Amino acid sequence: MTDAAHEAAAGSDAPRGPQPPLFTWEFATDPYPAYAWLREHAPVQRTELPSGVEAWLVTRYADARQALADQRLSKNPANHAGSAHAKGRTGIPGERSADLMTHLLNIDPPDHTRLRRLVAKAFTPRTVAEFEPRVRELTDRLIDAFEAKGSADLIHEFAFPLPIYAICDLLGVPREDQDDFRDWAGMMIRHGGGPRGGVARSVKKMRAYLAELIHRKREDLGDDLISNLIRAGDHGEHLTENEAAAMAFILLFAGFETTVNLIGNGVYALLRNPGQRARLQQALADGDPDGLLATGVEELLRYDGPVELATWRYATEALTLGGQDIAAGDPVLVVLAAADRDPERFQDADSLDLGRRDNQHLGYGHGIHYCLGAPLARLEARTALAALLTRLPDLRLAEDPADLRWRGGLIMRGLRTLPVEFGDAR
Ligand code: HEM
Repeated sequence: MTDAAHEAAAGSDAPRGPQPPLFTWEFATDPYPAYAWLREHAPVQRTELPSGVEAWLVTRYADARQALADQRLSKNPANHAGSAHAKGRTGIPGERSADLMTHLLNIDPPDHTRLRRLVAKAFTPRTVAEFEPRVRELTDRLIDAFEAKGSADLIHEFAFPLPIYAICDLLGVPREDQDDFRDWAGMMIRHGGGPRGGVARSVKKMRAYLAELIHRKREDLGDDLISNLIRAGDHGEHLTENEAAAMAFILLFAGFETTVNLIGNGVYALLRNPGQRARLQQALADGDPDGLLATGVEELLRYDGPVELATWRYATEALTLGGQDIAAGDPVLVVLAAADRDPERFQDADSLDLGRRDNQHLGYGHGIHYCLGAPLARLEARTALAALLTRLPDLRLAEDPADLRWRGGLIMRGLRTLPVEFGDAR
């Protein structure tokens, strides 16, 4: 299909026929028709996952928003009544190394409230704005490195390194060690899914490095997040060394693959929607008077966001959601990608509209676990997209979209590679 035809075809009618299969190759490439079917016919459906575990999939916007804010749905895997092997699966490789488990996405109040308060200061829009020059410099350096070639894989040469360096800076990992982090993270993103083999080794190395770093910082406190966590612990804020390491770990993981995919999915959506891309390019050339870059990044999150399903939740008591009875101990997965295309909530939900105003999407979640790193993610995505579209104005896909491979993990949605060309390359 041509890009124009693709744009014209968006916004199809309510789905009919039998339920499209979930978790197949076609589903990984384009899950939206299957989600449209679920929203229409089985909005809260008990589903067997590829791991064999059964969980409720919640696909309508109103139910999803309610579930995300419902304190009867716990994040603590100890509340899962089901098979032991499902416990603690938030989709983060290696997190089951017991001492990294007590992180924000696995705990409830009051521990959650205490730990989140400790890091919240590092993520206010004002604190994050201080990172802007560094993010700009990184972005430019990455583009400099491939510009002369006329082609690149935007996942590996651009989207992947950017967030890892940014988070390392935030945490206070010295520059000379950041390439090690990039390599460990690369191993985990390529082979994610479980603490086996190379992934297990990478998690172990990262864990050992973080313990060492926390030790070193204790001797010589700086202006970074790890130093601030240590200070808070020293001021009676009950923060164990394990909790500090788990915090560093979750920040790396929650902030890494998500940002890779926000840039990857975002650039891909722009290249498939030439009208919207031209609109943004024109706005940037004119100094962006209407803030199209900002609304555009939010729309890209809604349209094809990096987090397809919110992380695991478990019913602490019997409850009813979307008319469906859910037993105590049942796992619940909120499908953010489905909720954010709900035509009951969003006009022309299947169309990309960078100027969309009424856009309370769930791409960053909702409620007490709402994405802590959203201001940093926004800064990185806006800087990355603006730099790419301005410096490489004729950026185009170098492969047929049908041949692109999606990762097909349960929680995240993202491309394995994004080959592009620009300039005179043919
Ligand atoms: C939580 C999305 C970037 C740190 C979440 C949640 C979502 C999300 C959906 C809630 C999960 C749930 O309730 O199950 C995203 C997206 C990003 C992004 C789409 C796009 C780039 C980042 C960054 C960081 C970060 C850059 C930090 C450096 C966190 C943390 C949590 C979280 C720590 C857990 C908060 C809590 O449980 O209180 N994120 N995230 N995220 N995110 Fe992000």
